[in-house]
Amino acid sequence: MITIIYRDSLLSVSEKYQFEEQLSLEMRFCIEPDGRIIECNKKGQLLVDQFGPNFLRFFTEQIAGEAKVYLNTIIESNDIVSALLTDKLSDRDLGILYNGFFKDGKIILVGYRTQMMSRLAGEFVHELRNPLTIIKGFMQLCDHTKEYDKFQPIILSEVERMYTILENFLTMSLRKNVYRSMNPDELCKKLVSFLSSECAVHKVAFDYDISYSENVCKVDLDKIKQVLINLLRNALEALEGHLHEKKIMFRGSVEDKGYRFSLIDNGPGVETDVLKNMGQPLYTTKSKGTGIGLSLCKKIIADHRGTFCVSSVVGKGTTVSFFLPFISP
Ligand SMILES: Nc1ncnc2c1ncn2[C@@H]1O[C@H](COP(=O)(O)OP(=O)(O)OP(=O)(O)O)[C@@H](O)[C@H]1O
Ligand SMILES: [Mg+2]
Repeated sequence: MITIIYRDSLLSVSEKYQFEEQLSLEMRFCIEPDGRIIECNKKGQLLVDQFGPNFLRFFTEQIAGEAKVYLNTIIESNDIVSALLTDKLSDRDLGILYNGFFKDGKIILVGYRTQMMSRLAGEFVHELRNPLTIIKGFMQLCDHTKEYDKFQPIILSEVERMYTILENFLTMSLRKNVYRSMNPDELCKKLVSFLSSECAVHKVAFDYDISYSENVCKVDLDKIKQVLINLLRNALEALEGHLHEKKIMFRGSVEDKGYRFSLIDNGPGVETDVLKNMGQPLYTTKSKGTGIGLSLCKKIIADHRGTFCVSSVVGKGTTVSFFLPFISP
């Protein structure tokens, strides 16, 4: 039985529990293609208790058709499919976002209630206050003691924690894509500054090579950053325990009708059977992985009308790249 949970790497167990219990935000279901619910979490159980053990019965007559189409789309797709559906808990539009995918003949669904989002925003602000207070305290301590080296790792780890909290919020929020036209090498420069500082923190050598282009692509900068965060995290994880010099390279290259962004690591690489599964929702080889990273990246790139590509040589490393089309002038 597979369920989607918050990424282990981002939230500790107690935090997961806290999110689920306090915010009561996330519903999880494992269902048969006809909508029958096989398993769900506590929050999901509330809907089951009220409407019975079939997912399609959570919806008003008008929307039941839409929900059915949504389930079919999930079955036909290899990717994460999202739908904003309205349940019949009230006549007001509650708007529930379901992300779903198909695995082993079953549909795995995660729902977030939009109504909760404003409450969630408040909780996140509160969550961010703790690391900020710690950072402030240590900065003041540094000022007194001049022992910056001693406190720097704690400050950095708190900053990282803030990033992950924010990243989670962005992923969970229903923010629509905000596209703007952007020159790809301008975009690369923004990505490089983020990548180089992350690599420095992890003591990984970083290099880049960016080709100039006069054309523009339509991008949602935050989403593309999220893709890069996931690719970088994978590369860093692949390099963990690596004995040779760890290297990550970022390349931006002009192609026929668009621009290719590649992240290359000199990690252990992957065998063909792993390679062909990479990017399938829930596919992971890591004990603490959830296998969502690459599939989310693929979805974001598909939303940009781009394509995603992975190549790898065992013993040499892995290249993950995505292609974004130019906007025709
Ligand atoms: N740069 C890489 N080098 C080697 N293997 C990789 C690399 N990137 C991804 N993989 C493989 O692809 C799998 C799927 O990656 P994905 O990011 O989707 O999930 P994950 O990293 O396991 O978990 P998470 O959901 O936390 O990201 C990984 O478990 C790993 O086996
Ligand atoms: Mg990953």
